[in-house]
Amino acid sequence: MTSFVATKKKVSELAREHVWPHQMPWNVQAQDDGLTIFASGKNSTLTDINGKDYLDGISGLWVVNAGHGRAEIADAIGEQAKKLAYVSSVNFTSEPAAHLAYKLAEITPGDLSRSYFVSGGSEAVETAMKIAKQVQAMRGFPRRYKVISRRGSYHGMTHGAMSLTGSREEKWFGPFMYGVSTVPAPNHYRNDFGLEGEAGDIMAAKYIEQEIINQGPETVACVIGEPVSSAAGIHVPNPIYWQMLRDICDRHGVILIADEVINGFGRTGTMFCMEQMGVTPDIMTVAKGLTSGYVPMGAAICSPSIFAEFENQPEVSMGHLLTFGGHAVAAAAALANLQIFEEENLVARSAEMGVYLRSQLEQLRSHPSVGDVRGIGLLQGIEVVKNKETKAPLAKTDKFCVELGKKVFEKGLVTRTWNIIHFAPPLVVTKDEIDRMVSIVDESLTEVEREFAHEIEG
Ligand SMILES: Cc1ncc(COP(=O)(O)O)c(C=O)c1O
Repeated sequence: MTSFVATKKKVSELAREHVWPHQMPWNVQAQDDGLTIFASGKNSTLTDINGKDYLDGISGLWVVNAGHGRAEIADAIGEQAKKLAYVSSVNFTSEPAAHLAYKLAEITPGDLSRSYFVSGGSEAVETAMKIAKQVQAMRGFPRRYKVISRRGSYHGMTHGAMSLTGSREEKWFGPFMYGVSTVPAPNHYRNDFGLEGEAGDIMAAKYIEQEIINQGPETVACVIGEPVSSAAGIHVPNPIYWQMLRDICDRHGVILIADEVINGFGRTGTMFCMEQMGVTPDIMTVAKGLTSGYVPMGAAICSPSIFAEFENQPEVSMGHLLTFGGHAVAAAAALANLQIFEEENLVARSAEMGVYLRSQLEQLRSHPSVGDVRGIGLLQGIEVVKNKETKAPLAKTDKFCVELGKKVFEKGLVTRTWNIIHFAPPLVVTKDEIDRMVSIVDESLTEVEREFAHEIEG
């Protein structure tokens, strides 16, 4: 591969001069060792171009659920590419896409059964939102265009999806999509309503109903939320929250979208997190773990009640088109990935390893900076705080967090270390690897707590 590129420059120079990493500031990329270049991966281990190994504590970006270096998926990709790589997504499909849509209907909760394929999570969210708006109009409610999302959530970075996202950057991209309102999310650590546990979740659900009423139910198209939001802090709501949302949306004619882009495909200990919430949404968005990242793919998976509008008005199609939707090679990769899930019982493994991971993380509570430990399945995190008593938060830009991140990485663990340190390894992770991940964070915490004692008040 490299012989095709005629240059004497080192790959690190090529990367520094020509690659635009999506969110890396130039003052880091410009440094000699600022941008790590990975060369290979096996199961839960990544190896960089200098031969150094790292444990992958976040599955790439909550993506590589089946683990790195899966020959079965690579073979399926190669075979499909040789047979047929692509057909137009406008009015054709391919054999693997049809098989995958069937498989998804089989494994998704309730009656979800119709997949609109896309290439990633943001596209899945854009698609779900547009389906909700068009279906509302087709039902005879053209003024139902508003979307309700939860503060702190993450739904992607394309313009529409970013409009629903907590960290939307008004200063660069505003004004955002018209008609979006945001509401409090479940939070068992610092509750917006000063309530604890289930009571806070119930209030958060009631707040959504009040928001629908305030906006005018005849103007609201949909409510969207991640079953358990990583971005909003991995707070696990009591299932009653989602059950109430289901009921509220039904009573007000609002479409309920569950964004399982991170939660889906075993991450939370069941195939989809909504199973644990006991609720079937009208539309579910998936991506990431669908192919374990071997090639990009996502989907907006709809219930029959959504697709019924297109059956009732058979001359109308969705006002939407993505060239790569249902890509044959991606669908073949997803099928091979899901076959691994079945053969290796990866969902049950996630539940089992999640319990073990959590038990090890609980021991980190003895650190003066660790305010909380929380999560579900192999989606866990610890929150570091300035003061355990007051729960005064640390910001991701505080020196404590920045230095913690550096130490964790130097010691060989790849993960996100903002004020929440994420633990979301591939579902094939072993107990030994979990122990190493936890002890790297344990040691790093001890070191930064010593060096930055002034930032920690507890
Ligand atoms: C819940 C959720 N939705 C949507 C997205 C956007 O996915 P993508 O980055 O593939 O566009 C993400 C990405 O992390 C996500 O976590």
